[in-house]
Amino acid sequence: MSEIPRPAATLFDSPFMRACRREPTPYTPVWLMRQAGRYMESYRQIRARVSFLELCKTPDLAAEVTVDAVERLGVDAAIIFADILLILEPMGMQLEFSPGDGPVLHNPLQTAADVERLREVDAAESLSFVMQAVRAARTALAPDVPLIGFAGAPFTLASYMIEGGSSRQYTRTKQFMYTQPQAWHALMALLSRNVGRYLNAQAAAGAQVVQLFDSWVGNLSPADYRAFVLPHSREVIAAVTPGVPVIHFGTGTNALLELMREAGGDVIGVDFRVELDDAWQRLGDVAIQGNLDPAVLMAERPYICRRVQDILRQAGGCAGHVFNLGHGILPTTPVDNVRALVDDVHELSARGPS
Ligand code: CP3
Repeated sequence: MSEIPRPAATLFDSPFMRACRREPTPYTPVWLMRQAGRYMESYRQIRARVSFLELCKTPDLAAEVTVDAVERLGVDAAIIFADILLILEPMGMQLEFSPGDGPVLHNPLQTAADVERLREVDAAESLSFVMQAVRAARTALAPDVPLIGFAGAPFTLASYMIEGGSSRQYTRTKQFMYTQPQAWHALMALLSRNVGRYLNAQAAAGAQVVQLFDSWVGNLSPADYRAFVLPHSREVIAAVTPGVPVIHFGTGTNALLELMREAGGDVIGVDFRVELDDAWQRLGDVAIQGNLDPAVLMAERPYICRRVQDILRQAGGCAGHVFNLGHGILPTTPVDNVRALVDDVHELSARGPS
């Protein structure tokens, strides 16, 4: 008789994974976007020795940073240390993280011919360092802490490829979309196929849940989202291995929530520009992740506690809430406040709805 795989059973029944499936949990699970990052002294020490890209491409270090954040904070899930832009390199984009300016793509896409030159990616091979980091992190993590894999959603990745970096207005991206719709859809289809395979490779390497980051999609109107984005995001989510919950996240998505839901995801990630209870009511039968403003972590502890209480009250003790920030932790955040936040979420939610 084969032995019951204990670690897998514990992972499956962990509060985070139960919440992804909208099953009741003894307390509200919490993890934080950018939980590993510059606000942590241990991270800054590693970054003093290696560049951000080197860190991402050194599996042992990436795994160490992933696990270290979980152990220091006591969060309910780990997220693999990597970046949404890594997949663009093997596709043919020249990626650099410059210290002052953030990410730069040195050969931004302008024409249909630029799109045609892009390559399909065998993620397991070209991004093998991510898979090795996933395996190493899975081995080092406690057996009841799920590991989240992730990728950028097609729109957010396309915006970096066309703008050549971060943007405020997404003018080039929209111009591309409106004036070269065929090339746009070809680019989005290419991204969808590759992102889907990339997420599944991470799941196969040991990630229990995956998150799709459509961080900048909130800059689109609902009609443009439906026409230019929704079918492609749906394609990615539909391609994810059955049984692997998908978190579908975006910011500034108040006008897009129903459409994001239509595109798919077991959990919808919302930012702090919506009220969690309104958002959840609109979304209906799906789990929700969010949504404390990361800037609240700059305040005093009693204030943080009150704001946590507000969000838990809005969630009303319903099954299917994953506590998170509305966006990533800010680099100037005091670590003690982050730890206090995690404790507050656990303690207050364990008492039941108030
Ligand atoms: O959440 C985690 O702890 C996992 C690691 C993670 C990073 N980036 C590490 C990182 C994740 C999930 C991401 C996703 C990511 N990367 C997104 C989507 C999430 C979001 O913020 O909306 C985006 C848009 C990117 C692209 C990116 N990477 C930008 C715009 C920047 C520069 C901004 C900054 O904070 O410097 C990065 C660099 C980056 N990615 C850092 C980290 C820890 C900072 C690098 C450093 O200087 O050490």
